[in-house]
Amino acid sequence: MTDDAFAARLLAWFDRSGRHDLPWQHPRTPYRVWLSEIMLQQTQVAVVVPYFERFVAALPDVRALAAAPQDAVLALWSGLGYYARARNLHAAARICVEFHDGDLPRDFDALVALPGIGRSTAGAILSQAWGDRFPILDGNVKRVLARWHGVAGWPGQPAVERVLWEHAAMHLPGARMADYTQAQMDLGATVCVRHAPHCLLCPVADGCIARREGRTAELPTPRPG
Ligand code: ADE
Repeated sequence: MTDDAFAARLLAWFDRSGRHDLPWQHPRTPYRVWLSEIMLQQTQVAVVVPYFERFVAALPDVRALAAAPQDAVLALWSGLGYYARARNLHAAARICVEFHDGDLPRDFDALVALPGIGRSTAGAILSQAWGDRFPILDGNVKRVLARWHGVAGWPGQPAVERVLWEHAAMHLPGARMADYTQAQMDLGATVCVRHAPHCLLCPVADGCIARREGRTAELPTPRPG
C-alpha cells in the first residue's frame, strides 16, 4: 500500500463510519477545537461532550475565557479531573489576549509554546481548525501506527516515538486534513482498540504488519517494568 493509499482509505472509511456530529465540529472554530482537544487529552468523548457544551455556552471565545476568574473556569471543569488542564487553558487564553490579538495563533511554534499544548495537540488543533498539514500522535494513533508498521518497543521511549512521528508525517494526505485527523482518532477509538481489535472492519487491514504476523496482541509494546 502506498503512503497516500493509507490516508485515502482512512478518509473513505471516515465518510462511512467516522464521527461527524461531535459538538466541536459544528462550528469548527479554533477556540472550540482547542478546548475540545484539551478536554480530550485524558478523557473520553462521551464524558467530554456535556462538559464541552456547558463550557462554551458560558465562555464562548478566547477573550471570555481570559477575562473569567480562575474559580469560574475551575467550576466549569469540575468533575473532568486533571485540573492542571483547566489552569493551563486559562493561562494560555490570557497569553493569547496579551500577545496574539485575542486569537489562538496559527503558527506551530507559537501554539506549542502555550501551556498545555504539546506537539500532538498542536497538530490536532492546526489540522482541524485550519486544515494545515501537521501529524498527530496521541495514544490511539501510536497504537494504530505501531501495529500497521510493526514497530516494536514501548512508544513512550524517545527512539520509538521518533519513528512513529516519521510514519505519521509520511501518511499525511494532500487535502482534508481535518477529517484525516479525526479519522485516525476514530479508527483508534473504535476499530484498532487495545484488546481484540476489529480487524475485519479496518480499512487498512491488508497493509497491517501486526495483523499479517498475528502480533496485534503484542503491539504496541507495553511499558517495561
Ligand atoms: N482525542 C483527542 N482528540 C480527539 C478527537 N478530536 N476525537 C476523538 N478523540 C480525541
